[in-house]
Amino acid sequence: MNKNTKYSHVFEPIMVGRLTLKNRIVVPPMMPCLATPEGRSTLELSAFMGRLAKSGAGLVSFGESSIDMDRAFDHIATLNLGSDLFVPSLAVAVEEVHRYGAKATIELSHAGALAYEVLLNGKSRIAPSPAPNYIAPIYKGYTVEVMDKDMIDQIKQNFVDAVGRCVHAKFDMVTIHAGHGWLLGQFLSPTFNQRTDEYGGSLENRMRFPLEVLKAVRDAFGDQIALDMRVSGNPRLPKGFLAEEENFEELIAFLQAAESYLDMMNFSAGYIPVLETSEYMIPSYLLPHKTNAEFAAQAKKHLHIPISVAGSFVAVEEADEFIAQGNADMVGMGRASLADNDVFVKAEQGRDDTIRPCIRCVYCAGRIQPPNFKSIRCAVNPLIGRELEYPDMLTTPARKHKIMIIGGGPAGMEACQRLTELGHTVLLYDKAPALGGMLHTAAALSFKQDLVQYMKWMVNQTMKSGAEIHLNTEVTEETIRSLNPDIVFVAIGAVPAYPRIPGMTKENVVWAGDVDTKKVTVGDNVVVAGSGLTGTECAIGLAQEGKNVTLIDMIKPEDFLKDINGIVILSLIRMVQELGIKIHFQSTMKNITKNSVTYFDGTDQLEHTLICDNVVNALGMTIENNVVKKLSSVIPQSYLLGDCSGKAQNIQTAVLDGFTYAKRI
Ligand SMILES: Cc1cc2nc3c(=O)[nH]c(=O)nc-3n(C[C@H](O)[C@H](O)[C@H](O)COP(=O)(O)O)c2cc1C
Ligand code: SF4
Repeated sequence: MNKNTKYSHVFEPIMVGRLTLKNRIVVPPMMPCLATPEGRSTLELSAFMGRLAKSGAGLVSFGESSIDMDRAFDHIATLNLGSDLFVPSLAVAVEEVHRYGAKATIELSHAGALAYEVLLNGKSRIAPSPAPNYIAPIYKGYTVEVMDKDMIDQIKQNFVDAVGRCVHAKFDMVTIHAGHGWLLGQFLSPTFNQRTDEYGGSLENRMRFPLEVLKAVRDAFGDQIALDMRVSGNPRLPKGFLAEEENFEELIAFLQAAESYLDMMNFSAGYIPVLETSEYMIPSYLLPHKTNAEFAAQAKKHLHIPISVAGSFVAVEEADEFIAQGNADMVGMGRASLADNDVFVKAEQGRDDTIRPCIRCVYCAGRIQPPNFKSIRCAVNPLIGRELEYPDMLTTPARKHKIMIIGGGPAGMEACQRLTELGHTVLLYDKAPALGGMLHTAAALSFKQDLVQYMKWMVNQTMKSGAEIHLNTEVTEETIRSLNPDIVFVAIGAVPAYPRIPGMTKENVVWAGDVDTKKVTVGDNVVVAGSGLTGTECAIGLAQEGKNVTLIDMIKPEDFLKDINGIVILSLIRMVQELGIKIHFQSTMKNITKNSVTYFDGTDQLEHTLICDNVVNALGMTIENNVVKKLSSVIPQSYLLGDCSGKAQNIQTAVLDGFTYAKRI
């Protein structure tokens, strides 16, 4: 441990069983979809795991891995622990983690009734009981084979065999997955498990199978490998499922029974069979930080082995404080380690201001979730999932250029940082008095604090990058000609679109960005035109202030927030409902007056009028084509980045544009 670190609790070593971890930060399981379809580890996966270990964490977990080749798989491109054939490539990935002084664990899982159909080769799923009717739609409609005693014994043996392969691959620990509603969670659940034999009914019976698995593994391997178990500290089931206290009491009783087999346990949240609970499993920017903290802290009082908890611990400071208060022994920080691959090293050295914050956009999770199964990426760190393409060493370009960047939004700032790193001479211009561009608008609402932190970091790093930065400066063709750069990056963003609707230019029509940033104030009754992410977030912000808000959109209800990440949608829909925001779908605005909106409702084929003080325009953005054309036509090597390039844009695509163009030069 660095003796001078201000995070003395986090960076203190800890014994877990016979293992010594160099500190108390855990990178929790994050399945990256980087294995082959058969489940073999790849060089990409090894490099990804190496990057996570390089972050400086004491323990790094490999994500959900299938304990057998038969019916355990929940995702395409996860690791397969069902055959010795896959051990050699896995051992390479473990070496990569050890290279950075971290210990390696791997999460062993069986999906049970939630196995992914395509990977079952025509077989049915297995489970303690037939799937209950509340099961999420994606898992509905398939046959479930109820496990008999022989099958229970077989799965137990499969867990043991899988652990044997992990021992062989030189893992330091295995993590048995009993959370999130996979097979062991299905046995534990009083609503899923309807068995009438010794594996169903009372808690003692429902926990029999998970406990037998733990015992079988411990009996087979003793102290050869440390044993961890993941549970959902709170499944966060909707009302009516089970009283929360009852639920928690049962969980504690199970954990107390399990702890004699374990060296540690780790807490997550959520229950995949009930879709709504996914909101808490990988919490987005719409939920508070440290979402599972209270359950871990409660459980800690009843347990004797070290415990860890994950769920929106965003800064090392939060983890340090939590451990200092005696609420947990270790803290899992997953997405923080994706957003900045040196995060814990930097924190230990007191360089917190250089850590790139995670914005909890959940883009990473959306990529790997069914039915996508795309390899992992991060919105703010383009290196994630591209470790082989962009190894750590900087490649010095063959020729250093003088590069002019016009526009200091996310694309321009990302390009600026990468180009200066590579040694180019960079001149960055923005007509605004500060860098940030659209981030100022995007981060304005009170629930966007993670984005505020990211914007501050981006601006700070860009200001320190060594580029020549000119603010309050509108660039013209003449400016470019007089500077005569080798290359121009045009990243001037976009402006609000005002579709031709009668009354759209009236004073009471305001742009959503101006409402969010409080540049304009609106009355108590507001109609927000456009139910995309901008419109919905703006509506939520206004409703939180106590306004009476109605959203209007031409789209069908089933297309509401269609292109948004599923986890974010769950939170947004919950908030829209809780705040009483009304939505009129299939509705086309016909006319706006100073105190009303008339729209045509496609469902009843009638015109209706809503009385309102203001109409908020959230109908999208448009490119200033003339300006873009002028600025990009002076120097032959000119590139368009971010919003002004015309591609669908958000922070992830803007950052990737800046990064890719900078690396391509
Ligand atoms: C891309 C991604 C993949 C994940 N994969 C798994 C997994 O394989 N198994 C699991 O138990 N949890 C998985 N999780 C949940 C994380 O382990 C963790 O509990 C969650 O991200 C909250 O922690 P954080 O806020 O520090 O990221 C995943 C999360 C992400 C973002
Ligand atoms: S994709 Fe978004 S949520 Fe995931 S690590 Fe990156 S910034 Fe965080």
